[in-house]
This record gives sequence, C-alpha cells and structure tokens, in this order.
Amino acid sequence: MNHKHKYHFLRFTVVTLVIICNLLVFPINTTIAATLSTSVYEQKVTHSSDGIGKYYMGREIAQVMGHRGASWLERPSREVQEKPSLIINALNFKPDDVVADIGAGTGYISFMIAPQLPQGKVLAVDIQPEMLDIIEFFKQEKNITNVEPILATSTNPNLPLATVDLALMVDAYHEFEYPREVMSEIVSALKPGGRVVLVEYRGENPFIMIKRLHKMTQRQVKKEMQGVGLVWKETKNLLPQQHLMIFEKQI
Ligand SMILES: C[S@@+](CC[C@H](N)C(=O)[O-])C[C@H]1O[C@@H](n2cnc3c(N)ncnc32)[C@H](O)[C@@H]1O
Repeated sequence: MNHKHKYHFLRFTVVTLVIICNLLVFPINTTIAATLSTSVYEQKVTHSSDGIGKYYMGREIAQVMGHRGASWLERPSREVQEKPSLIINALNFKPDDVVADIGAGTGYISFMIAPQLPQGKVLAVDIQPEMLDIIEFFKQEKNITNVEPILATSTNPNLPLATVDLALMVDAYHEFEYPREVMSEIVSALKPGGRVVLVEYRGENPFIMIKRLHKMTQRQVKKEMQGVGLVWKETKNLLPQQHLMIFEKQI
C-alpha cells in the first residue's frame, strides 16, 4: 500500500468510526438534551428509589403507577379510607360541564362524576393505553356513555382548546414527567374562568402512610400552579388524607 492509499484508508477508517460513535451516542444525547433543554428541570444521579431523578421546582417527580396496580385504584375499601365521593360533592358541577380527569387510571373518579353531568361529559385522560382499555370495559359494564377516554403523551393531555370547565387530577399530578408542559396544555384547554382541582395526599403530615414522593405540600402545589399562571382560590380540608386544592384560570 503506497502513501496515497494509506492516507485514504486512514481517512475512511476515521470517518467510519466517527459515524459509528455518533450512532451509539445519539440516543443518550437526545435524552440528555430533552431533559436539559428545558431549564425548569434538573436531573440528579443520586435520588429516591420511588422517583425518576428528575426535579421540578425543588420536587422530585415520582414514578408512574403502572397499569398492573389498577386493582389498587378499584379496591372496595377506597371509599371507607379516602372518601372520594366527598370530592364529587364538593365541586358543584353544572349539568352541562365538560370535566377533564387527567391521570384517570381505571376511571374510578370519572365514573363517579359522569352521572352529575347529564348534558356534559368527562374526558378521561391517561398515558397508559392499558388504563384506557379498562375505562372502555367499565363504560360497557356500567352502561355510561358520557365518559370519553383520551390517550395522552407525557407532555400533552391532548385536550381540545378552550373547551374544559374543570380539570381534575386525583393522585396523579405528582407523577407527571413533564408537569410544566402538561399544565400549560391544561390551561390552554380551559375555558376562561375554568377551574383546576388537585387532590394530593398531604405532604405536611408524616403520619399519612404514603410514600413521600406520592404526597405534596400545599406550598409546593401553589408554587407549581403559580408557575403556569393559575390563581389559588381555596383549599378544602374535607378528606381524611388528601387536600383538595382549587385554582382558577384568569379571564
Ligand atoms: C395513581 S394513578 C391515579 C388514577 C386516578 N386518578 C384515581 O384516583 O383512581 C395515576 C395515573 O396517572 C397517569 N399519568 C401519569 N402521568 C400522566 C400524564 N403525563 N398524563 C396523563 N396521565 C398520566 C398514570 O398512567 C396513572 O394511571
């Protein structure tokens, strides 16, 4: 091999190696970029085993409850322990309201709300298709027609713009991987004056036997909702373990 051939061979090898390295590293780069390009998030290597190592406004985001835990949401003791029917009574729905239940899971809450809206509907939103399959099953089983399952992405609940009267999240918000993006989309989906309601286990109370990352303090919730322009209206302390916080979109 003369000098010219050696030079071309070396150049070819270097270019090939660079391409292979790029292909191997690219997926890692995109993940890091996706996390770091949005300055509101921080990724930490050392973190809770219940969290995803991603922090938003000082809070570590919890791991998503997988669809294999669906029976926990439907447990018969839930009404006795958590009194979810009080949530429904407290929200004074109008018969034609459009309510978005974000992080609906099996639709446990959606199906409690649906009978309150004879001319309205519940948009039952979740990122897990398996949860939406369960909602479809219950729709048939309970013969309820005004619950519409919607498949979300981790950044977008896929709600129609300016159509929602009330967006409700029960034990769901703390596990949203992109809370800022999801909440901004929810605000866009609300009608002017529309309400956002968060039900979260009380983070202030160490005696509530729920994992730390699955609870939130009122202070943290207010900070995060204020971050997307929502105005706090009221906290109702009527539930045994959770606080129910009401926010409003300004007109
Ligand atoms: C603990 S479960 C609560 C289910 C329901 N709200 C209830 O109280 O029965 C939380 C649900 O939020 C869903 N979830 C997590 N991240 C989400 C997101 N970004 N958008 C919509 N749903 C999400 C999960 O798939 C899971 O079904």
